[in-house]
Amino acid sequence: MKTHISPDYPQLCQAVAQNVIACVKTKPDALICIAGGDTPLGVFTALVEAQKQGRVDFSRTQFLGLDEWLGLGKADKGSCREMVWHHFFDKLTLREEQICFFDGLTHNPQAECQRVDRYIELHGPIDCIVLGIGMNGHIGFNEPGVSVDNTCHVIDLDAVTQAVSVKYFDTPREVKQGISLGLKTILAAKNIVVMASGEKKAAIVAQTVNHPASRDIPSTLVKTVAQASLYVDKAAASKL
Ligand code: GLP
Repeated sequence: MKTHISPDYPQLCQAVAQNVIACVKTKPDALICIAGGDTPLGVFTALVEAQKQGRVDFSRTQFLGLDEWLGLGKADKGSCREMVWHHFFDKLTLREEQICFFDGLTHNPQAECQRVDRYIELHGPIDCIVLGIGMNGHIGFNEPGVSVDNTCHVIDLDAVTQAVSVKYFDTPREVKQGISLGLKTILAAKNIVVMASGEKKAAIVAQTVNHPASRDIPSTLVKTVAQASLYVDKAAASKL
């Protein structure tokens, strides 16, 4: 897997943003998926800035959500929907039909999975996906042990993911399940960017690179496809 190491987080975000911009320049109606979570926040800022400066035009681009905490919606600070809208979609002033995102408040998660799968059948495969890496190696909510044949699915969250989740929320939340794109869909993307920043991610980044591809560490599975690259800052690369 090709690895890009940037000196710091702002430059890492610029490099990832540049990758997304190149994709949209080649294909203005590209299907783009960018993870929620803390890691891509600087990428959102860089992309909003690029649109403001006329360096990219997202007016025909389609955006797909990667994952969501089941039971949380846009009004819940720290939900994927809240984070991605607040930092990105609201600032790009997209039309509603440009976005397909999991509804974490759905009363019928299976139907929600089918809805998003149908959308991907119609608009996919994903042209460019930007993934974070969980502390346990999850990508999206594809937790350790997950099947590689999954499309959209509901998954019980790993103890590590539940423990880490408190960093997103301003009030205590009981998050037991997630809804996520599956590895089958993710690994079929034409351009896969796996992104990590900071010293806290150094150990899982080293495992992602050095451990043989295994369902036990989902992030290692991206090495099985040629179109994946790892983008890290120096701190996240410090154990490589
Ligand atoms: C979260 C999200 C993922 C994210 C990953 C890393 O739980 N569900 O989509 O990429 O874990 O999160 P962070 O970037 O906050 O470290």
